[in-house]
Amino acid sequence: MSRPGNPTTGEEKNIVFESEKSILLDHNYDGIQELDHPLPKWWLVTFYLAIIFAAIYVGYYHLGSGLLQEQELEADLAEIKSRAPAPTSSEDLAAKAIAMKDDATALAAGKASYIAKCAACHGNLGEGGIGPNLTDKFWIHGIGDAAGVIKVIVDGVPEKGMPTWGPIIPPEETAQLTAFIATLSGTNPPNAKAPEGQEIK
Ligand code: HEC
Repeated sequence: MSRPGNPTTGEEKNIVFESEKSILLDHNYDGIQELDHPLPKWWLVTFYLAIIFAAIYVGYYHLGSGLLQEQELEADLAEIKSRAPAPTSSEDLAAKAIAMKDDATALAAGKASYIAKCAACHGNLGEGGIGPNLTDKFWIHGIGDAAGVIKVIVDGVPEKGMPTWGPIIPPEETAQLTAFIATLSGTNPPNAKAPEGQEIK
């Protein structure tokens, strides 16, 4: 193998270049000698940066306030849950419907939905028809409060002809409908259907 520079030292077998003299280690393994090359700068820099990074990483994530993977996942899931658009538990939905009682926009939406989906059986004014009168104090199911009305809307009474709306009407709309139905109470519309169920005083 040919190399630049003049071999100046060493026995015939151990050729050492002038430029490499200063880094030649003084042991000799059966004629094989070793040069003490410094590690390349880019390698050292990477190495020391890795050590610094590891120290910061362990300090922050394992000893400090940093969240480990699983904790981060839990935090993210909790955040996603808190961002969920509409409450779906029936208590939440009832609370929502009650809170809408003075919300003109929600009541208008509830009315529009009522006319489109419910009026055919319960009458345009809630006076009743195929379905019972929704304006009187008599209720077949529940006591006419938000929770009871929501339950009937969501579950329906299929065997009596009241459709199961749960899978069809989204929770927000169910709340609007319930809030609107509450406004029908005591309106005494013409052609009201005779009371059905228990009187709730
Ligand atoms: C196909 C006809 C029909 C449609 C459409 C309908 N209902 Fe009914 N609904 C009924 C019948 C029939 C009953 C009575 C069930 C019974 O006798 O148990 C009823 C009962 C109810 C009750 C309970 C009344 C009580 O006295 O306990 C509520 C509340 C109600 N419906 C709301 C709605 C709403 C809100 C909609 C629209 C999303 C709707 N219904 C659409 C037929 C209908």
